[in-house]
Amino acid sequence: MLDVVVLISGRGSNLQALIDACAKQDFPARIVAVISNNPDVYGLERARAAGIPTAVVNHRDFADREEFETALDQQLKQYRAKFICLAGFMRILDSRFVNRWRDRMLNIHPSLLPSFKGLHTQERALEAGVRFTGCTVHIVRPEMDEGPIILQAALAINPEEDADSLSAKVLKLEHVIYPEALKLLALGRVSISGNRATIDKASYPQQGMISPEMI
Ligand code: GAR
Repeated sequence: MLDVVVLISGRGSNLQALIDACAKQDFPARIVAVISNNPDVYGLERARAAGIPTAVVNHRDFADREEFETALDQQLKQYRAKFICLAGFMRILDSRFVNRWRDRMLNIHPSLLPSFKGLHTQERALEAGVRFTGCTVHIVRPEMDEGPIILQAALAINPEEDADSLSAKVLKLEHVIYPEALKLLALGRVSISGNRATIDKASYPQQGMISPEMI
């Protein structure tokens, strides 16, 4: 059983997807704590409702990133975290912190990486006129929204559509691929070499692409 701490900053819908997955019998990971850098977010309520311990490490309480991350580390140690899931965690983490958790920290991002890192991804996808959008679960590396890709889900863009409706559709896909990616890692079905992750063929013949039709 893989002991996971989930880091959040907001509403926590991906956290909820992870909570629901972990509640299923035979799921190979469990959430030992949820830590937020914001004190008043709905994600913390979701954790409490599921009986999961919560902690707040408010970045505003610290002089700099190093102090903030030291406090974060203390909490992770306290809960004996073996793995971290970033679920809408909107703080940039220093490379020292990231390297300490090398290959043991996952992130979900609402674009088909490496395109559209950062914020407002669906607005930017529409502006760019790309034909597909989607989401990516990847192992965290020091550069923002970078690292070995575990799973992606793609969606064709209807040019009439607005960013809000696209974001809502992509969010549904996020809720499918995040628990799935965590499961693959917890079962040891992923090997990571440098900046590439490979899923064993028996689990995913297509190497990590989930399309809406498969859901
Ligand atoms: C999600 O769309 C997630 O992919 C995104 O923040 C949202 C959090 O929603 N993360 C990033 O943009 C990370 N670069 P949630 O709190 O409902 O899970």
